[in-house]
Amino acid sequence: MFYLKYRPKTVSEIDNSRVKETIKKILESKNLPHAFLFIGQKGTGKTSAARIFAKAVNCLNKKEDQIEPCNRCVNCLSIASSSYTDVIEMDAASNRGIEEIKNLIKETSFLPMSGRYRVFIIDEAHMITSDGFNALLKTLEEPPESAIFILATTNLEKLPKTIVSRCVKVNFGKGLKADIVSMLKRVGQNEKLNYQNDFYSLIAHHSDYSFRDAAKILEEVSMQKIKTVDELESFLGIRGKNDLLEIIEKKDSKKTFIWIEEFAQNGGNFKNLIEDILEELRVQLLIKKGVKIEDEKTSVLTLTEISRLIKLLMEAYQLLRSTPIESLPLEIALVEFYNK
Ligand SMILES: Nc1ncnc2c1ncn2[C@@H]1O[C@H](COP(=O)(O)OP(=O)(O)OP(=O)(O)O)[C@@H](O)[C@H]1O
Ligand SMILES: [Mg+2]
Ligand SMILES: [Zn+2]
Repeated sequence: MFYLKYRPKTVSEIDNSRVKETIKKILESKNLPHAFLFIGQKGTGKTSAARIFAKAVNCLNKKEDQIEPCNRCVNCLSIASSSYTDVIEMDAASNRGIEEIKNLIKETSFLPMSGRYRVFIIDEAHMITSDGFNALLKTLEEPPESAIFILATTNLEKLPKTIVSRCVKVNFGKGLKADIVSMLKRVGQNEKLNYQNDFYSLIAHHSDYSFRDAAKILEEVSMQKIKTVDELESFLGIRGKNDLLEIIEKKDSKKTFIWIEEFAQNGGNFKNLIEDILEELRVQLLIKKGVKIEDEKTSVLTLTEISRLIKLLMEAYQLLRSTPIESLPLEIALVEFYNK
């Protein structure tokens, strides 16, 4: 699987540029903190970064002034294969109670077997029960010299403030499109896929801000021998979105609804479609506002029309979650757009 094969193994391979800098700084600092909170959406590299971190502090070949793990020594290799006894990964989604946390705390009193630190990685940390958090509080405040805690969460709001304030926060946020594109290019080069920039951009655009999802799409697309952007658009269920925009520009309402009906019949993906049209409209908005963008043709819609359409489509996008008929939110949005 691409997303496992290309899981970042060094700090420099973390494609999330902000996170890369933060982790570098932490590893360079003289006094290494002992409790971290990795916050971010799914598939943004929290677990990967936690493992890199565990390797970096336990690597046997690492010199004082360098931060990268060697990925060759026994410690690095066994951390990578999850067989290293001093890296303890716990999924708080299934081990959330006071007993599990107490056991974990007991573990922190043991010295590391072969490295410098025992690293405790707690995934989905927001799932821990309040009793569990209370038990953890004191250990987080004064962790043993040889213990490092990394709490990972997709949901910061659900963590008690007392826990949050004891940790150094690393914010993974959402995957940025540019960062995801650079990950996809790295994979593409390695797999000799020969795709162009716009191909990777389109995947990144439909990856839900997740590096993992993007890598999965790339893998499927390459397995299905999809070569062109046209084919990719079909694959993503957004074939012909430019045609729809042209019809909208002509305000041809009958054609519009025939187009949408065909799109639905062909199994088109309305979420992807609306995302793409919004992206295009935003570019048009910028052009009308005098922000030059290369190679883009200018829409015949006025600035007011564009901004009204954007608002309507954003509403439609929200409604996608609850609609019983997938095409309906878009159809209603366009009825309203034409009716004025
Ligand atoms: N910053 C990144 N740079 C490059 N690839 C990444 C990055 N983040 C994630 N990936 C890719 O996504 C996959 C999943 O990443 P990881 O398991 O670290 O995410 P996570 O944040 O822990 O997600 P979850 O919240 O679902 O546990 C990795 O195997 C890798 O292929
Ligand atoms: Mg994870
Ligand atoms: Zn090493």
